[in-house]
Amino acid sequence: MDYRIALIPGDGIGPEIVREAKKVLDKVCEVYGHHFTYQELLLGGASIDVHGIPLTEETVEAAKASDAVLMGSIGGDAKTSPWYQLEPSKRPEAGLLGIRKALNLFANLRPAYLYDELKGACPLKEEIIGDGFDMIIVRELTGGLYFGERKTVEEDGVRKAVDTLSYDEKEIRRIAVKAFEIAKKRRKKVTSVDKANVLDSSRLWRKVVEEVALQYPEVTLEHMLVDNCAMQLVHNPGQFDVILTENMFGDILSDEASMVTGSIGMLSSASLNETKFGLYEPSHGSAPDIAGKGIANPLATILSAAMMLRFSLDLDQEADAVEAAVAQVLKEGYRTMDIMSEGMTKTSTAQMGDLIAERI
Ligand code: IPM
Ligand code: MG
Repeated sequence: MDYRIALIPGDGIGPEIVREAKKVLDKVCEVYGHHFTYQELLLGGASIDVHGIPLTEETVEAAKASDAVLMGSIGGDAKTSPWYQLEPSKRPEAGLLGIRKALNLFANLRPAYLYDELKGACPLKEEIIGDGFDMIIVRELTGGLYFGERKTVEEDGVRKAVDTLSYDEKEIRRIAVKAFEIAKKRRKKVTSVDKANVLDSSRLWRKVVEEVALQYPEVTLEHMLVDNCAMQLVHNPGQFDVILTENMFGDILSDEASMVTGSIGMLSSASLNETKFGLYEPSHGSAPDIAGKGIANPLATILSAAMMLRFSLDLDQEADAVEAAVAQVLKEGYRTMDIMSEGMTKTSTAQMGDLIAERI
């Protein structure tokens, strides 16, 4: 089959890890007889350097014209990078938020699970890890606080900043449907996370999620307050299957969930709209401190490419092959620096890409 893939290497370690994911996709094409046409697009700091803004209409249009987008990471060191001298709406992160909105990518899926081989990297005690955990965070990605009106003003000599948190029922319903659809194919449990003891937006969230749940009698729904959820993630992570939550809570909880796996360098993510189209990126950031050293872990990006094969291109067998290759390489003891432990073989970013590609 022929597909058009937009590649956004981005900033920091982005270009190095996207290069390895492409290497793996090239091998998939060779083995399974597909043909991918790639187009590289600028976003974030890389776009600022060329165009002065983090997201151009050109990038949006080219992304829209593709079957899927594979991204590395965007952003730099806020203390030292000139990008952060710009006003907030012109910084790298604004580009990422902008492309999510422009492509209507309202559903962000962030799986967090513990690889048996990496149990040693999990910071939790063995009795808490138990049989391990395997959850997916379904984060609403184009509404809430990150997209509400904001302003900074001075009133009577006092500086004041306002951010607005708003959700309408349509926004809540479509993300809830995604979560229940995913739960149906997993362990059939949705934990909807909110702050309904305080926020109106959370009270509406709860009501709409309950309405959606009526269409999915086979899925168990529970509600959890976000502060309790933050605690439960380190107290008993095994209880979670699908966590459904709004934009900011999902941002925070997904970082926490990835940390308890001990290997943020391993976690993929997908951002989807109503169609098959999606943007795929690792859950981790651009790690400017190790950029260009050839030591970054490309596995989260490679696993994001596998999600792309599965969700946007309907290439399940190929996605299985990539995921199996990652598991195999870990079993054989190869590790990048971030997941290195005693007795294992240390590999560079490029070597890791080669090892995965060889096993497809
Ligand atoms: C993420 C990131 C972004 C977000 C930032 C870079 C805007 O933290 O993808 O989780 O908050 O969504
Ligand atoms: Mg985040």
